[in-house]
Amino acid sequence: MCGIVGYIGQGPSSPVLVEGLSKLAYRGYDSSGIAFLDNGSITVQKAAGKLEKLTERLIIGGDEGIGIGHTRWATHGPATTENAHPHLSQHKQIVIVHNGIIENHLALKNELSWFGYDTYLSETDSEVVAHLIEHFYRSSHDLLEALHQAVEKMEGSYAIAALAADRPQEIVAVRKNSPLIIGLGEGENFLASDVPAILSRTRRVMYLNDDEYARLGREKVEIFARDLSPIDREVCQIDWDIKTAEKGGYDTFTLKEIHEQPRAIRETISHRIKQGRLSLELELLESMAPSLQRITIVACGTAYHAGLIGKTVIEELVGLPVQVEIASEFWSVARFLTPADLVIAVSQSGETIDTLQAIRLARRAGAKVLSILNVVGSTLARESDAVLYTWAGPEIGVASTKAYTTQLAAFFMLALSLSGSGQEAELLELADQVDQALATEETIRRIAREQAANEKIMFLGRGVDYYTALEASLKLKEISYINCLAMPAGELKHGTIALVEPGTWVVAFLTQSQTYDKMVSNLKEVRARGAKVLAITCLSGDSLADAADEIIHLPKTLEHYAPMVSIIPAQLLAYYIATERGLDVDQPRNLAKSVTVE
Ligand code: G6P
Repeated sequence: MCGIVGYIGQGPSSPVLVEGLSKLAYRGYDSSGIAFLDNGSITVQKAAGKLEKLTERLIIGGDEGIGIGHTRWATHGPATTENAHPHLSQHKQIVIVHNGIIENHLALKNELSWFGYDTYLSETDSEVVAHLIEHFYRSSHDLLEALHQAVEKMEGSYAIAALAADRPQEIVAVRKNSPLIIGLGEGENFLASDVPAILSRTRRVMYLNDDEYARLGREKVEIFARDLSPIDREVCQIDWDIKTAEKGGYDTFTLKEIHEQPRAIRETISHRIKQGRLSLELELLESMAPSLQRITIVACGTAYHAGLIGKTVIEELVGLPVQVEIASEFWSVARFLTPADLVIAVSQSGETIDTLQAIRLARRAGAKVLSILNVVGSTLARESDAVLYTWAGPEIGVASTKAYTTQLAAFFMLALSLSGSGQEAELLELADQVDQALATEETIRRIAREQAANEKIMFLGRGVDYYTALEASLKLKEISYINCLAMPAGELKHGTIALVEPGTWVVAFLTQSQTYDKMVSNLKEVRARGAKVLAITCLSGDSLADAADEIIHLPKTLEHYAPMVSIIPAQLLAYYIATERGLDVDQPRNLAKSVTVE
């Protein structure tokens, strides 16, 4: 969470910093700020609220072409101007931005009080970092060394960038469990939490690893190891276009990304099918497949739901048992892993700290890790034994849509590859079927208008349709703030049916012939208690007409591929209910797209 930018170059830094922050708002957007050097002193400007609150009162001037900026997702202390970053040190010699959590900040405060550091203007855990660096800087006058000494005392996770009032020639930075990249320009260099922040300025990027330091000057960038010995780092060329990270005529990123799904799915699948045969070119999978006894999938949020669908399709096609774990709960199962285990991590960003910590535990147990990722060069990519990339392109909307369906595509390909079941033709049809599912948009929009004020919404399904219900419910919660729930339809009668009353709205998924009749019975049960039912189905059956108030028909796919199509109307439903309610769909309250705190 939180986005960091840094700039050292020729002109004023504030426009570069603000532009960079605008591209990082998906990482947190409850407050923001920048700091730059101004004739030997540090100027800090910050504001609570979205970035516009900062830009509308920004004073540009006196800038020596060096600055740092931050967009925040609050952990310690509410989203106020005081708690916004950057934070100045007590004697105003140092300014820092921080992403992560300093777990021992109270102990550090205590220790620093012996040296007269007793003034804190915020409730954050981060402010102590500024004081600590200043404390060391006052004796060494070496900014990198001071940062190093401070880091040696810190526990927790961090990406930190720091400036000193009397050092207009350098920005120093360090990372542990929070991403940082460096952009290389001509006579200018950039620092950021993620590539989009710098993409309009340069495509040449260096990635910083955990426990590494960076020193950015105008003409050179140096990288150092944990002991400050210099490291050579390769320069990567970013080949995707900034336009793919813009709205392209749509009102919101989320709607654009919903509509990009046919393209994203097509690209993810078609590159891997040559002459009608799937080829993933994953040596790890080929070498492990013959002796594989079980698979463990680990992920968070939407990626976890993709993992549940992945489990179903692998179990069905390959016949291997698969368990799916929420990454932050993984510690309890990691102890059962052995070198014979394959762990599949799923993540859009490749930076989610819970997922990262899970794969570290898995690898420590000797298991092999295959990751399904969207972001090339992300931390998870670098720490996995093998990677299967989704080709969704940058996903900016906080609620994940195209990343989810391309993750499903990745799982379908893995299952096909492990089973050799030869269903490539049907796989290739999926992108067009998702396109047809998008044609339900106007109907869904009308239904969303009718239901936008409803606070009693329930999603039902059985088997894989229950997993789709979970994802549908999460989408609605994330962007509409409706306290809805998802239930396995058969379990409803064991308690939760007590919630059903006249006015309750039930959205049901029926894509599996094996569970179709039972689903119809369950829907009749809720209708008998006054619920209204919207059924979303790929199947044709007369009995559903008596069990639903409205039916959305979707194209027929192979049944184990159906979740990719049935989630589309649910995404649109969440989207249009949120817009009917006048909510900010791209940046919903309390959330961040990339969650780098545990
Ligand atoms: C956050 C986001 C979710 C996302 C989850 C996992 O909670 O708000 O949309 O599904 O993180 O993110 P990842 O990048 O690992 O897929």
